[in-house]
Amino acid sequence: MNATVQSGLDISGIRKLFPVLHQQVNGKPLVYFDNAATSQKPGRVIDSLKQYYEGYNANIHRGIHTLAEKATRAYEETREVTRQFLHAGSTEEIIFTRGVTESINLVASTYGRSFVNAGDEIIISALEHHSNIVPWQMLCEEKKAKLKVIPVTDAGEIDIDAFRQLLSDRTKIVAVNHASNSLGTINPVKEIIRLAHQWSAVVLIDGAQAAAHLPIDVTDLDADFYCISSHKMYGPTGVGVLYGKKALLEKMPPYMGGGEMIKEVTFEKTTFNDLPYKFEAGTPNIADVVAFKEAIHFINELGKQNIAKHENELLAYATEKVSAIPGVRIIGTAREKVSVLSFIIDGIHPFDIGQMLDTRGIAVRTGHHCTQPLMDQFKIEGTVRASFAVYNTKEEIDALVEGLRRIINFLSK
Ligand SMILES: Cc1ncc(COP(=O)(O)O)c(C=O)c1O
Repeated sequence: MNATVQSGLDISGIRKLFPVLHQQVNGKPLVYFDNAATSQKPGRVIDSLKQYYEGYNANIHRGIHTLAEKATRAYEETREVTRQFLHAGSTEEIIFTRGVTESINLVASTYGRSFVNAGDEIIISALEHHSNIVPWQMLCEEKKAKLKVIPVTDAGEIDIDAFRQLLSDRTKIVAVNHASNSLGTINPVKEIIRLAHQWSAVVLIDGAQAAAHLPIDVTDLDADFYCISSHKMYGPTGVGVLYGKKALLEKMPPYMGGGEMIKEVTFEKTTFNDLPYKFEAGTPNIADVVAFKEAIHFINELGKQNIAKHENELLAYATEKVSAIPGVRIIGTAREKVSVLSFIIDGIHPFDIGQMLDTRGIAVRTGHHCTQPLMDQFKIEGTVRASFAVYNTKEEIDALVEGLRRIINFLSK
């Protein structure tokens, strides 16, 4: 099938916007299926970085000269574009961080340290990335609080009834992902938030795997905190966002001390800056934040619904073709998934599959995907994960399927 007519989007045209895709790897055209780890960047994002450094590199906020004003404007424009992207009420609620990991650590270290006490409980799910497990474990250890885990079914779906049972007036924080990076499961986050709020718990949503694929409306969700990461949504590495409700952010102490986050400093006492600057100590990652705006524009211009339609077609096609290969077992069969296909093959280590696919120019991820407890539940060491972005095609999936068949044939001789 022609790549341009798989959905309403012009996929061939979109592919042309991504310089990195047009290369041979090990003598074969690159097939990039490691998008859940990080997606590739369109030319406009790369150009934006170059334009910033060549045209108006300057430190922001304190400068009165022209370059500093231009850099400040560009940086703050991204904040407004991000606010709209997440449907937040105010730019005061949009904090730039280095990524989702830092956003979660910020909340655990500030809100968590201030409002979680001995005997309190924090609930996560068995589907979480290590970034949404370890900060809470550290907090629980420090505060003598208890970490509780919502079980997942064999399909990889959160057990909502079990979640209801875990909630109590001891629950202070619930932290779950919107979509799972290793299985692709889309979680019913609106319902999770609603249930948690009945017990006055605050809810943090890890949106790392949702932001490039699903509509996000933090106001409609009533999320207390929502975290996204630029590098998983066609933007540069080193930029994340923490959305937080203003009333919560105002109650929280700063995360790091230093420049920018202060109002006034004396040796006796420091007063802190207003939101969102209170949480942005030091010189931020100006260039990458500026370029992140182009990634959001890119997604908006294509339309998330169109992106999702194309990716869903890819996922359905890949699921059908890969599961038809003898010896393959798909891990993660939730009813609603983002474009992540995790699988294992009888008798072949995922790592070997990954390496052999690489010799055919096909980039997949293998291993536990930073979700070791989840792999333990499935009694496996890891999976092979193919994750799709808007620039991927059915022809590329055919190449993956052909590669897998050849690997199995070769190893069974
Ligand atoms: C679900 C999930 N949460 C958190 C992270 C960490 O995100 P970051 O790389 O922005 O720190 C990832 C990255 O793989 C992820 O997939």
